[in-house]
Parts: sequence; structure tokens; C-alpha cells
Amino acid sequence: MSSIEAFSATEIIAAKRDRHSLSDPQIDWIIDAYTRGAVADEQMSALLMAILLNGMESREISRWTDAMINSGERMNWSVLSRPTVDKHSTGGVGDKITLPLAPLVAACGAAVPQLSGRGLGHTGGTLDKLESIPGWRASLSNDEMLKVLQDVGAVICAAGAGLAPADKKLYALRDVTATVEAIPLIASSIMSKKIAEGTSALVLDVKTGAGAFMSDPAKAAELAHVMVGLGKRAGVKTIALVTAMDVPLGLTAGNALEVRESVEVLSGGGPSDIVELTVLLAREMLEIAGIKTIDPAQALKNGKAMDVWRRMISAQGGDPDAKLPVAKENLVVTAHSSGTVLAMDAMAVGLGAWRLGAGRTRQGEAVQAGAGIEIHAKPGESIKAGAPLFTLHTDTPAAFVRAQEALIDSVTIGDLPTNGKIDRLPLVIERIVD
Ligand code: URA
Repeated sequence: MSSIEAFSATEIIAAKRDRHSLSDPQIDWIIDAYTRGAVADEQMSALLMAILLNGMESREISRWTDAMINSGERMNWSVLSRPTVDKHSTGGVGDKITLPLAPLVAACGAAVPQLSGRGLGHTGGTLDKLESIPGWRASLSNDEMLKVLQDVGAVICAAGAGLAPADKKLYALRDVTATVEAIPLIASSIMSKKIAEGTSALVLDVKTGAGAFMSDPAKAAELAHVMVGLGKRAGVKTIALVTAMDVPLGLTAGNALEVRESVEVLSGGGPSDIVELTVLLAREMLEIAGIKTIDPAQALKNGKAMDVWRRMISAQGGDPDAKLPVAKENLVVTAHSSGTVLAMDAMAVGLGAWRLGAGRTRQGEAVQAGAGIEIHAKPGESIKAGAPLFTLHTDTPAAFVRAQEALIDSVTIGDLPTNGKIDRLPLVIERIVD
């Protein structure tokens, strides 16, 4: 390291190792120095592990977030005539809500500038899903993004290299050093990107349950509080819902399968849990954006949201009428016994879809557009022995064995309890406003 550096990385690592809080200048320096390559990966890895073990106070998290924002550009949508509002989900199995939600909220009068990611591990990425639409392009320049927002009202695209570059480096390092699961690091990573994206208002959907990466509802609520605080301090109107991810959302997990289901929702049909969460989040987004005119449930039923979806897909080179890719092979998995489906493990379904080719193991790997799982019976529904429970889809039939292994104990079938209720998390567990 050059002698003109303001701080020493080892002193900063030692301070966090010894449970001291880091000063604002120390945080500014370490993020900047790591982004420009003056702090080595092994030093940042040690610091991240010390943060995971010893935590950060709220001032440190806030400064760490600001330093990540300042590592790149901050987008500005003030030329738009509509208020901007976005949604971020911490990710779950079958969570395709962004697809119907962004056009729905735009149809109700807001502008939705959504920068999304690709999937890694058992949860799918919004960009991977949309890329199953023939011709659709995830990478847009800032000018193209603005034009789609002006013309259509909603845009979903990849974050450019200039947005929070510190987070890009840090996230890749956390992924390989077992330091993803630290609330200060998750909160600052998500919020640095959302604040830099330039939205004026934000609704966070923090998932909890077996299929979420915060399976404990108390931890999910803690993460939500930290993120809401970061948003507000940065001048972004922010609220969070902690929502259920014990069971997959909807009836599909996999890229093209989820697009098909989203189009069903935009056509006024689709699974009730997807419709309910989409409308609920749309109401939250419109309220926080100060728009009171239209009921989103109506805009979903009367085709207005579908109209925006079609224009949004076309504006990014996609053909909304094109046939979606279908996997070459499929296999039906049947129920072993008769009764009521009492539980379905979202993580197992996500892992099964991933093993079929819907997800990737390494960044940059290709995903299969048609791969994934269709669910034929959800918790609360009755099923007969031998009836279809899942249909597995893949281009690589050798994957069926490993996917079936993932699903082996994923479903519990039995007698409905005498109170007639199955043991499930409510769809919305908590609403967090500060
Ligand atoms: N998503 C992010 O963008 N960052 C995290 O740290 C976790 C999930």
C-alpha cells in the first residue's frame, strides 16, 4: 500500500475485531480504497468477517451505505412528471411479483425505475425470468431507461457498472467468504443500490420462512427496521412488509414458467396468493408515492396493467406475443398418500428448480429458460394418492434424479387438524414504518 494512504487497513480490521466502532473517515477510506484496489481482498474479507461477528452500530451502517453510494453514480429522475416508487424483495421461491407489479403501479400513475438482479442459488432473479421472453434486453443505458420511463412508466433492467461499484466487489467477496448473512452488510448492500437508483419512495418486501435467506421472522424484522432507517435518512420514503416465504409463491418456480404465470395475473387470473401480494404491494407503493386515484385491483382486472406490460416488454426489444420457451423434457411427481397438503418446503422446491437448470451455481453461468417446477397442489388443498403433485421441467433429463432428491420430503400430506387450519405463516407478518 502506498505511504500516502490516510489509514491502515490492518488497524481498521483490528479495531472491528476488538469490537470498537469505526469512525466516519475510516469507513469512507476503506470503501474507497477497496473499490480502487488499494485494499486487498484478504484484508476486506477479514473486515467483513469481523463485522459479521461483532456487528455495527446504526451510525456505522449508515456511513458504510453512504460510502458505497458515493463509490458510483446516483441516478436522478427529477425530469419525470410522475412520482417515482420502487419495490425490492429480499428474494424467495416463485417470487415473480415484480413482473405484474411494476406495470400495475405504472398503470396507476407512478413511475417505476426498477434495477434488478440475476439469481444466484435457490432463488430466481427477475432479469433471468424476463430474459426468457424472446428479444428482451436487460442492459439499457441511462438515456434508454429514462425514455422507457417517460413513454411507458415502468422499466426493469440491469444495474449498470457505474451504480454502487463498491457493492459489486463486496457482494462477490461476501459470496465466497461466508459473510453474506450479516444484517449491516445485507442492509447496506440492498439500500446503497436502491438509494443510488434514484427512486423517491421504496417499499421493501422482506421475506421470511424456510425459503428465505432470513428464515427467522425476528431477524427479518430487524433487517427491515435497519433498511427503513437507511432509506429515510437518505431522504427516500421507505416502508417494509415482512412477508411469508415458508411456501413457494404461486404455482411455478423457474424462469419462463414464472413469466407465464405473471401474464396470467396481468390477464386478470393467476394464483390467489400472487394476486393478493401484488395488489397489496401496489397499494403500499401508490400510498407512499402519494397517488390515491385508482384501485390497483381494478387496473389488474380491466387490462390497464397488461397494456403497460406489453409496452414495457416491447420497449426493451421483447415480443410480448412470442411463444415462451418450453423445456425439452418433463416428469410428473405424484402424491404418495391421500389427504390434505399440510406443508410444502419452499427451500426444497427452490433447490429442485435450481437443480433442473433454472438457476446457476456460478456468476455468469447460463440458465435454462424452460426449466423449473409446476406445483399442482398447495398447502390447504386435498389430494389423492397417485395424483400429480409437481411437474418437473428441464432440457437435461439427467437432472431429474437430483431434483427429485431435493423434493423427497418437501410435502407433508395428512389429516386436516380438528380446527380446520394448517400451520402456515400469514402472508403479511409485520408492517414496518420506522
Ligand atoms: N441482496 C443484495 O443485493 N445484497 C445482499 O447483501 C443480499 C441480498
